[in-house]
Amino acid sequence: MAKRVLVSGGAGYIGSHVTVELIAAGYDVVVADNMSNCDMTCFEGVKKITGRDDIPFELTDCCDAAAVDRLFTDYQIDAVIHFAAYKAVGESVAEPIMYYRNNLVSFLNILESAKNHGGCNVLFSSSATVYGEAEDLPVTEQTPRLPATSPYGNTKQICEDILRDVVKATAINDGTDGRGPVKGIALRYFNPIGAHPSALIGELPRGVPNNLVPFITQTAIGKRECLNIFGNDYPTEDGTCLRDYIDIVDLAKAHVAAVSRMIDGKMKEGYEIFNIGTGRPVSVYELVTTFEKVNGVKLAYRFAPRRPGDVVAIWADTSLANEELGWKATRSVEDTLASAWAWEKHLAEK
Ligand code: WQD
Repeated sequence: MAKRVLVSGGAGYIGSHVTVELIAAGYDVVVADNMSNCDMTCFEGVKKITGRDDIPFELTDCCDAAAVDRLFTDYQIDAVIHFAAYKAVGESVAEPIMYYRNNLVSFLNILESAKNHGGCNVLFSSSATVYGEAEDLPVTEQTPRLPATSPYGNTKQICEDILRDVVKATAINDGTDGRGPVKGIALRYFNPIGAHPSALIGELPRGVPNNLVPFITQTAIGKRECLNIFGNDYPTEDGTCLRDYIDIVDLAKAHVAAVSRMIDGKMKEGYEIFNIGTGRPVSVYELVTTFEKVNGVKLAYRFAPRRPGDVVAIWADTSLANEELGWKATRSVEDTLASAWAWEKHLAEK
């Protein structure tokens, strides 16, 4: 029988792409989402891409412990991928209580049910934000985490630590009273961008986008007047920040590799961490001009002051993921930016 993966936050940007790749790899998926930051567009897109009209969808708020537990009672779950979280850095600074409550409580509920239903494999969606302004680049998984500069970033660090501690504490569980061991992987994403090649699923930011690529595509389509490039006086070649932009489908495939590693019993430790990026730094200016070139559009942009809280440069050493997960980013930044533009145009036609 196919193994089943619970994807919390599965109707969102990353969750929908991961659901597609899990199904393509032969897994059964249960999507749970409270729809607080998305609509059904991506879930409908997932059904079209996979040709599967029968993917179970549960309208669940993961902060509701009883509702989470019901999922584990109703379905035999072999692994959980936990995406259900708030993710806007600036908003987290303004609303720390909301962020800590939502991001921590939902994860605690997942872990508690995972433990009490015979144990489970748990994949946590972490972020390169845990490295802060790293001194040595590229960063490896051993690079020390720096104190978080936002409550959002802090929730990522705290959830990593919670997972580590729960793995350690539950390793002794032998099934008595239904309690089993929790195994965990944290994937530290760099900057996920782009959309599925079908243009049926992609990023759907609410309001003014915070992230670069949705701002670029919305400017190109005419929803925004002008892109502000935050800072051109950084100590980099062209003066703009460097990031590691990882294609969303490549990123989704890393989740399948990590889930298979857990389910197939290939982990070397009960808790493991992997960087998920391309290993290649790209400047903001380079990304903007590549977008223009690949898509044949002229983008209105101007150089603006630095955005508070931005690090100058961060990119991944991905050797560990390459070797241990047998995974590597394959899609070029050109193809990814073409997919982001195709998605924006698809939205405009709707
Ligand atoms: C990238 C670069 C900006 C917008 C954040 C989170 C991270 C992850 C992804 C969440 C920076 C510049 C941006 C714009 C610009 N989490 N920029 N004009 O800040 O690297 O990472 O998002 O979901 O945890 O920290 O991503 O896309 O916001 O910015 O010039 O309008 O683009 O200054 O250099 P970031 P980003």
